[in-house]
This record gives sequence, C-alpha cells and structure tokens, in this order.
Amino acid sequence: MLNPEIEKRKTFAIISHPDAGKTTLTEKFLLFGGAINTAGAVKRNKANQSNTSDFMEIEKQRGISVATSVMGFEYSGKRINILDTPGHKDFAEDTYRTLSAVDSVILVVDCVKGVEEQTEKLMSVCRMRNTPVIIFINKMDREGKEAYDLLDEIEEKLNISLCPLSWPIGQGHTFKGVYSIYNKHLNLFNSDKTKVTDSVIAVNDLNDTSLLDYLKENEINTLKDDVELVDGIYGKIDKDLYTDGLVAPVFFGSAINNFGIKELLDTFIDIAPSPRHREAEERDVLVEEKNFSGFVFKIHANLDPKHRDRIAFLRICSGKFERNKFYYHTRQDKKLKFSNPMDFMANEKSIVEEAWPGDVVGLYDSGNFKIGDTLTEGEKLQFKGIPSFSPSIFKEVENMDPMRTKQLEKGIEQLTDEGVAQLFVMQPGNRKVIGAVGELQFEVINFRLEHEYGAKCRFRTLSYTRSSWVTSTDRKKLDEFVKRKQQHIGFDKEANPVYLADSEYMINLTKQDYPDIEFHKTSEFKS
Ligand code: G4P
Repeated sequence: MLNPEIEKRKTFAIISHPDAGKTTLTEKFLLFGGAINTAGAVKRNKANQSNTSDFMEIEKQRGISVATSVMGFEYSGKRINILDTPGHKDFAEDTYRTLSAVDSVILVVDCVKGVEEQTEKLMSVCRMRNTPVIIFINKMDREGKEAYDLLDEIEEKLNISLCPLSWPIGQGHTFKGVYSIYNKHLNLFNSDKTKVTDSVIAVNDLNDTSLLDYLKENEINTLKDDVELVDGIYGKIDKDLYTDGLVAPVFFGSAINNFGIKELLDTFIDIAPSPRHREAEERDVLVEEKNFSGFVFKIHANLDPKHRDRIAFLRICSGKFERNKFYYHTRQDKKLKFSNPMDFMANEKSIVEEAWPGDVVGLYDSGNFKIGDTLTEGEKLQFKGIPSFSPSIFKEVENMDPMRTKQLEKGIEQLTDEGVAQLFVMQPGNRKVIGAVGELQFEVINFRLEHEYGAKCRFRTLSYTRSSWVTSTDRKKLDEFVKRKQQHIGFDKEANPVYLADSEYMINLTKQDYPDIEFHKTSEFKS
C-alpha cells in the first residue's frame, strides 16, 4: 500500500497547440478546485503566445511564469499539481523538459481545428516516455467537426486508441452540456464564464423524466443512442492501458462555458496515476523509498538584475523533502541545504517545510544547478528522461565587447545551464556555438546577456541545420572520427561530441561512410 501522501498526489500538465484552450482549462480547474474564486487571473498572466518575435513579450511571459509554473491545490482529498508549459513553439524544449516532471497530461484539442501541428509533436513527446494522456476536446459550443469524426481523426493522426468517457449533448448553438459516461451521470449547468455555478439538474438515469424540463425528447434519445453506440465501439476504459500510455480517455466540453470540466476533473482524480517509479542511470527509484531523491527540470532566472539568484524547480521522486536538511548534489559532489524552499499553491508562493513525491519545490539557487541535476541523501544517482534534443539553428557567438569577456562567458554558461539554448564548443579556438530550435531564443539570449550580464555579442549564422550526438563502442574509432570531422564537431557541456551537418542527407552519407559510429537524435544516448 502506497503512502497516502504519495497516493493522493496527481502531478500533470495541460498541453495544447496554442489557442486550443490550455489556459482557459487550467483556470477552470483552479476554479472548480476552489483555488481561485473568479476566472481571469491566469488568463491575465498569459503573454502573447503568437509567433511574433517580440522578446519583451517573452520576457513578460518568463516574468509571470514563476507564479504559474506550478499550481497546486486540494480537490476531493487529492493534491493536484498542474505544471505550466510555455505556449510559444520556440520554447518547445522547455515544454519537453516540464513533461519529464509530470505523471500524466491532459491534451486539449480544438473541435473546430482538430489535430494541429503542436498537438502531434506534443503527443510524440508523451509517447517517448509512455506518459498517460487524457484528451479534452474543447470549444464544443462552436460549430466544429462532429464528435465521431474528431475521434477518428485523433485516433489516426495521434496514433493512439481512444476511449470516450464523456459525451456532448448537441454541438455549436445546440450544445447543452456533457454526459459523464464514466460516472453514468448527467449534470447540466448554466454557462458562466467567470465562476462555478451549481448544476441545474443532476441525474443518474437518462430515463429520468425531470430531464425533459431541460432537454428536448429528441436530444435525450440521441444521447442515449450515442452512449450505447460509443459503448459498443470503444467499450469500457482499461485503466492499465491508459496508465501505460496505450489508450487515451477522451472528454468533451467547452472550457470557457464551464461545460465538461467537472466530468473531466472528477474522472481525472480517479484514474490519473499517482507518482510512480523513475528510472535513473544507476537503477529504478521507487516512490516509496525512504530516502529522498529529486531532479531539476526547470530553472527560472530572476528578472530583477539586482537579484541574480535563480529558482530551480525540483521534482521530488522518492522519500520526503525537508527544509534545512543537507542534500547531496550528485553532479557537483557536494552537500546543499535549502532554508527557503518554495511551495506553489494556486498562484501563491510560500515556504514549505516538507514535500512528497509528485510535488515540485522551488529552490533559490546562486548558480549551483543546471537542468537535469539530481539531489539525493547521499547516493550517486542521475535521473533519466531529460535529454537535450537536436537543435536546428546554430550560431557562433562573437564577442562585441572584449572588456567584458568574462561576463559574456559567464552569461553564456549560465543561460545555457538554464536550458534557454544549448552550447557547443568547436575547435580550433574554443569557438562557442549556440544551438536552438527557434530564432526567438537568440533574441532572448542577446537581450539577457546585455541586461543581466552587461555583455554584448553578435551571432553569426552557421549553415548547419541538423545535429547528432555521436558514440562508438570503439573509442579509437570515435576519436578518429572526431579528428577527421573536426570542422563539423561541437562538444556539448558534458564534453560529448556532436556532429553538425547541413542536411539530413549529409548525416546519412556520413553514417554510411562510418559504420562504426552511432548517431543519436538526443543526448540521452546511453539508454
Ligand atoms: P491557449 O492557452 O491554449 O493558447 O488558449 P486559451 O485558453 O488562451 O484560449 C484561446 C482562445 O479560445 C481564447 O479566446 C479563449 O477565450 C477561447 N476559448 C477557450 N475555451 C473556449 C471554449 O470552450 N469555447 C470558445 N468558443 N472559445 C474558447 P481569445 O479571444 O483569444 O481570448 P479572450 O479574449 O477570450 O481572453
């Protein structure tokens, strides 16, 4: 039997293609969970997520995201931790890393647009880790695609079996609410965009005649037929298949109107997995182990240049985290103690005395941490699952102010530790090359170097668009390859060689020429 403190924790992320309704759904969860009283707070915090290259907006987004990075609240005896992910596509890596710290996700799909580009990408990340996924089909108040067509599209494009656990009554202007297939229960609400209202009717039997006061006979009959049909096609939910990431339960609703939220939340707390064991390089770490362990999945810089400290977000994997206790930083081989660890309840930060697996604590950091760092009670552990991905844009750093070389080096070092982008060092000359997935990251680096470190640099675009970490079972062959291809080799922060190429074609040619060398798309090639 799992420790009740661990059992009650549900740590997850709500993810979506921008504009599908992630922010609105997050806010409605907080509202239904009683963590906030009126909608609008999270929403106001949401910066412009469009594709504009406006780094001030991004700065604003970073600024507010400490508050919204983790939103914890209690609901029905469970402790819910929602981890926020950035919406902008250039920050995809940040999202991937945050997903390493959750136990499940809710993926929001817009019923008008169906599966979009980011929906597919996010799903593929979930699949990499077998993360359990629930799908919420939002905006059912709009004239979108039909429920059955949406299910077919999602099943096909996201390549996952589905199991609807709620069903819409009507759609667009005829949308009346959502029936919970899972709980065999119908709650009808009046739409209210800002707060939770009591249901106008709640029935367990669709033959209940009082329903006729709210729904037309043909609406009730269609619902009954649909429920029967869905049961025939999809059957009952197999919770194990869901937990293993093989079947995705589906819910319908309209986040803005509060429809379908309670059905989703009530089922979520019942079926979503509690924290589970985690793989470390050395061994599997079980949540119920007595000794504490956790890893850093996100680092947030302080926007105030007078306070250079940063906040490292630590996901607890086992044992119990306690304030003012010394913990072992495995990479740096030293002990650290945290006197002001932060807990995040709704939008409030407070000092936390103890925290459990599934929880995320914020640790003030003066430069000790980088993404992926592990803390334990003394054991040498390194958690897996936080790889760096191959960037697609590479630029060489050119110092614009030789008097500030030290500051530039420190800035580049720290910003890449934070995971803003990746740093590669190329020979000869120890040239620094930054690799990123989007142009925006270069703007952010430039801006922050200037404002936080007083350093100035220019970026010279390189022709590379692909990269692969390279390894070989034959050390000599690898050394030979690295020497021969020196112009194309950058060393990452762990001094692993990375082969940089102009195209996939070039990588493939090189692979053929060097059969003893293995090429990897992520830095986690050891697994
Ligand atoms: P995101 O975080 O995934 O980017 O999406 P967000 O929640 O910000 O929602 C994107 C837009 O979709 C918002 O409109 C929001 O109000 C709207 N929306 C969310 N849920 C529903 C829904 O169930 N039905 C309908 N019809 N719209 C919904 P906006 O105009 O961009 O912002 P706002 O002016 O409403 O704040």
